[in-house]
Parts: sequence; structure tokens; C-alpha cells
Amino acid sequence: MPSSVRKRQIVNPHMQTLETALAQVYGWASNTSMRAALQVVVTDKAKRLMFDEVTYCRVAATSPGELHSVAEEIALGETSFFREPEQFRALWKMVLPALIEKHAHDRKLKLWSAGCSTGEEPFSLGMILEDLLGEENDWKIEIFSVDLRSKALLQASQGRYHPLQLRNLDPALRERFFSGKFAPDAPPSDLDRRVRRNVKFRHANLYDAHLWQHLPGQFDVIVCSNVLTHMHATAIQQTVQRLHQAMAPGGYLLVGSAEKSLVAHTRLRAPQTLPPGFFQREGDR
Ligand SMILES: C[S@@+](CC[C@H](N)C(=O)[O-])C[C@H]1O[C@@H](n2cnc3c(N)ncnc32)[C@H](O)[C@@H]1O
Repeated sequence: MPSSVRKRQIVNPHMQTLETALAQVYGWASNTSMRAALQVVVTDKAKRLMFDEVTYCRVAATSPGELHSVAEEIALGETSFFREPEQFRALWKMVLPALIEKHAHDRKLKLWSAGCSTGEEPFSLGMILEDLLGEENDWKIEIFSVDLRSKALLQASQGRYHPLQLRNLDPALRERFFSGKFAPDAPPSDLDRRVRRNVKFRHANLYDAHLWQHLPGQFDVIVCSNVLTHMHATAIQQTVQRLHQAMAPGGYLLVGSAEKSLVAHTRLRAPQTLPPGFFQREGDR
């Protein structure tokens, strides 16, 4: 065994308790970078609370509030508007126009951004729908958006973004949907109320059965991108099962293109006309 590994095991055997709690409560898999982040958080929090690290890990593993504060610190929140452009183009040009046609009679669409981070993902969906339906539409659009990190949800609910967060956004969309003039040193820009009004944020844990038992109906599109990749095998299987249940018949699931192999379900098929990462629920027979 390399001495670095031996040293880590001898110094930090108590971290295992905390990793197990995070796996059970949030469905997270442990890996080297997660362990490194966890170590930094444990050292910092133990010092602030004047605990030794062993005691802190025991307390955090058994106290839901403290475990949540650890999860909040170590969860990776990387995101951006229109993160995988090919996927969003397919949503814009194929998936959403087809759903709009399908729902022309009831004029309702329900979408879910599961693991929405600071809001760029649900707001990208909102901008596409605003573009497709036009300003004066009478559609009922719901973009349900869930994350476990309160700080991320606070920024998301404000709909205010720094130039750095807008740098890859199409200038025409920036101009159309954000306040102010874009420049790298400009103050943060506010997203148009027309896009924000359809997006509802909820603080919840995707690995908690309670959330799935109380969903606001079935969804035409669920985007669960770059979330499954951080989960362990049991959590992935259960989450994919639950996502399938939450989709309307004929509805779509979108995961990161690198996560497509994690979605294994007999009643979810990957449409050949759409980019990698899309799955469609079979219609009810
Ligand atoms: C890497 S970000 C991806 C954000 C966005 N979906 C995207 O692809 O750009 C993953 C997000 O999922 C959230 N997340 C991870 N596990 C979660 C869980 N069990 N419940 C709720 N949110 C979770 C994290 O807090 C983070 O904001």
C-alpha cells in the first residue's frame, strides 16, 4: 500500500462514518476529490466548534442539520446557461416544439430541473419556452426546480447573474432577457420577470422518498444533469426508477451526455434522432 494512502487511513479512519452517512442520506458516492473536500470541511468545522475531528465526524454523521451543512459545503455546483449546447438546441428545435403541439388543447407544460444549482439550467428552459410561445401567450408553464443547497437556491431565486456567469450565453439572448449592458466589469444583471415567473424553486433532497411522494404531478421534461454521476450504484438505480415514475407517458428525461450509460431502465429508450443524454418514457399502452 502506498505510504500516502496508509497515512490517510491511519490519520482519518473517522471520516468513513461521515462518508457512510452522506451515502445513506444523499446517495453520494465517495471518491478522492470528495474525500479531499470533506477533509477540508471537517477540519474547519471541528476547529470552529472546538471539537476534535473524531468527535465532529460522529456528531455530523448523526445530526441531520450538521450533516446537511457538510453536504451544502462539499456538493459540486458547477453549472452554466445552455450547458450542453447540442442538447439545448435539440430541446429548442425538436423536443419542446413537439410537446407544445401535443399540448395545444390544454396549453400546459410541466418541466423539472432536478439538481438546479444556481438556476442557470431551469432559466435556460424558461428562455426557450418564452421564445417558442411568445410574450403574450396564455400557457401554464411550470418549471419545478430542486436543489439541496440553500445558498445556490438563494441566488437562483434572485435571478441575478454576474458577467462571468453570462459570458457563454448567446449575446442575442443576453440582450433580450437580461438587464443592463454586458461588459466583464459590469454590475450583475437581472433576468427578465417573464422568464422568472414560471420557475419555482424548492429546497429538497433528491434521495429522500418524501420528495417523490409529494411531487406536483408528472413532468413532460425532466432535466437531471450532472447529478447521477455523483451517486453510488444503489442511489442511481433508485433515482432512475423514480425519475421514470415522475415522467408523463411520452415525456423526456435529459441527463449529461457523459451520464447516459447510468440510465438503465426497460421503459426508457434513447431516441435516435436526439443527442446523447435524452431518454423518452414509453407511452402507456
Ligand atoms: C454539478 S451541479 C449540476 C447543475 C445542473 N444540473 C447542470 O447540469 O448544470 C449538481 C447539483 O445537484 C445538486 N445535488 C446533488 N445531490 C443532490 C441531492 N441528493 N438532492 C438535491 N440536490 C442535489 C448539487 O447541490 C448541485 O447544485
